[in-house]
Amino acid sequence: MGARKIVFNNRKGGVGKTVSAVNVAAALLFFEKKVLLLDLDSQAHTTISLGVKGKEAGDMVSFLKGQQDRGPLPLKVRDRGKGLFLVPSSFALSDYEREVARDPRGLLTLKKCISAFEEEFDFIIMDTPPNFGFMTLSAYLAATEIVVPMPPHFLALKALAETKVICEKVARKNPGLRISKVLLTFFNKNLRHARSVIQEIRKMFGQDILLPPVRNSVRLAEAPSFGQTIFEYAPQSKVAEDYKKVAAALIEEGEGGMDNREEQGS
Ligand SMILES: Nc1ncnc2c1ncn2[C@@H]1O[C@H](COP(=O)(O)OP(=O)(O)OP(=O)(O)O)[C@@H](O)[C@H]1O
Ligand SMILES: [Mg+2]
Repeated sequence: MGARKIVFNNRKGGVGKTVSAVNVAAALLFFEKKVLLLDLDSQAHTTISLGVKGKEAGDMVSFLKGQQDRGPLPLKVRDRGKGLFLVPSSFALSDYEREVARDPRGLLTLKKCISAFEEEFDFIIMDTPPNFGFMTLSAYLAATEIVVPMPPHFLALKALAETKVICEKVARKNPGLRISKVLLTFFNKNLRHARSVIQEIRKMFGQDILLPPVRNSVRLAEAPSFGQTIFEYAPQSKVAEDYKKVAAALIEEGEGGMDNREEQGS
């Protein structure tokens, strides 16, 4: 059985894509999952959040170019369970994007590069930049599902709807690609406004679309400056618990999905 390939994406910036990709990846280790995390953003926030210096280790550019001297990529960055592995990013990724963007065949490079790791990992998680550019499109073509992190704000619904349209367009080239889950971030359950946003999301995608929400917590903003996940920086915090619940729900949804496919096939 191959890895689940999940891209964390929302065309809106600053919604919690990176924080969620990093902490969901780390949370999956508690459930004995082997996880590969791909930093596809030249801002390299995922890489920095894990305390890794991209250039020293070889980076996404050398990974995509398949360079022999690319070093030990993917890099093992956490030991818990079966381990968390990272392909780090660096600013050089933006030059690479410009270089290859003229050749549409380049869009399938990422898919080809990760196919070698599909049997080894349980999850391949991709963090994407906020723009819908070359790397995000490459991720959509390589992934099996999209998780959309978003704050429960009215204006974020527009970006969610746009992300859905883009997903449907790319699904013509990558059949089966779908928005599997929406993850509410910066969550405060006491806000009446959040409840109406939830209703809208369910209208758009059905009752089961939401992962357990991640509350608003300054701990999440502090942890990256120490190169730590929330499980290292504030292991007893409620928000660490939130991310474990998200990981558990993702695993459960995959297992449910698997049963359904088997039933349909039999
Ligand atoms: N649940 C939360 N509570 C409080 N702060 C949060 C939460 N989620 C994310 N943040 C903070 O909000 C900021 C933006 O989060 P993050 O970098 O994950 O967003 P992003 O969608 O990846 O941004 P970009 O579009 O720039 O890649 C960061 O400082 C992060 O620490
Ligand atoms: Mg980000």
